[in-house]
Amino acid sequence: MLAKTQEDIEGLRMSGKILSDVLKELIPLVQVGVTTAELDLAAEKGIREQGGVPAFLNYKPSGASFPYPAALCVTINDEVAHGIPSEHRAIADGDIVSLDLGVSYNGYVTDAALACIVGAGDADAQRLLVAARESLDAAVATLKAGARTGDAGAAVEVVAKKYNVAIVEDLGGHGVGKSVHEKPYISNVGKKGTGDVLPLGSVLALEPHLTLGKGDIVLEDDEWTYATHDGSRAAHFEQTVMVTEAGVEILTPF
Ligand code: MF3
Ligand code: CO
Repeated sequence: MLAKTQEDIEGLRMSGKILSDVLKELIPLVQVGVTTAELDLAAEKGIREQGGVPAFLNYKPSGASFPYPAALCVTINDEVAHGIPSEHRAIADGDIVSLDLGVSYNGYVTDAALACIVGAGDADAQRLLVAARESLDAAVATLKAGARTGDAGAAVEVVAKKYNVAIVEDLGGHGVGKSVHEKPYISNVGKKGTGDVLPLGSVLALEPHLTLGKGDIVLEDDEWTYATHDGSRAAHFEQTVMVTEAGVEILTPF
């Protein structure tokens, strides 16, 4: 969406604040033995306590065979995106865990994600996480009124190369604000100066997905979870931002 009115801006800020608060509350719960269903329950409770609604719950994008059944997406190790929480899936030491959450507040939707390592993790896991965070920040830094979607993709490519990690080219950022996925699509690869021009007030979710192997993904049998084709580990960070004349306002700060 394009944020135009003060009401839009305040609604988006509140939605993003709830999302940031809840994501931050989840981090200390990511411990050995905790199930992903427990994380989902905590996420939903946290959102509702602050007057929000889980934006992913029952969301059905075109092409999906059934609505997403949870508030939170949890992806571990070789899983890349849209991991459905389960009471049978417990977190283990060394896991790379990405938590992806959406909030709707007064109809305003924000979308954000962060990744963490359970325990110390190995050097590759640490490199992947640094790359994932840095690539998001680099992409966000390209945004301002009049910038182009290709600027963000080009910035992700530079960081991925620096850390020798792969980009999942089939997943990307998107407009957000009134629903979870809106135009434009923002690829995580691109050429500076190409792609859609971003108008003032654009509300966007950027989400580079990086892997330690190749960037190809497969859809698992649950029809929601994407995993790497080669079994390599993946991580992502995501922020919802609002485009300003000078840059962006980050609506989901963490
Ligand atoms: N950040 C994820 C994305 O944009 C959120 C997916 S919500 C889901 O794809 F409900 F589709 F899982
Ligand atoms: Co998203």
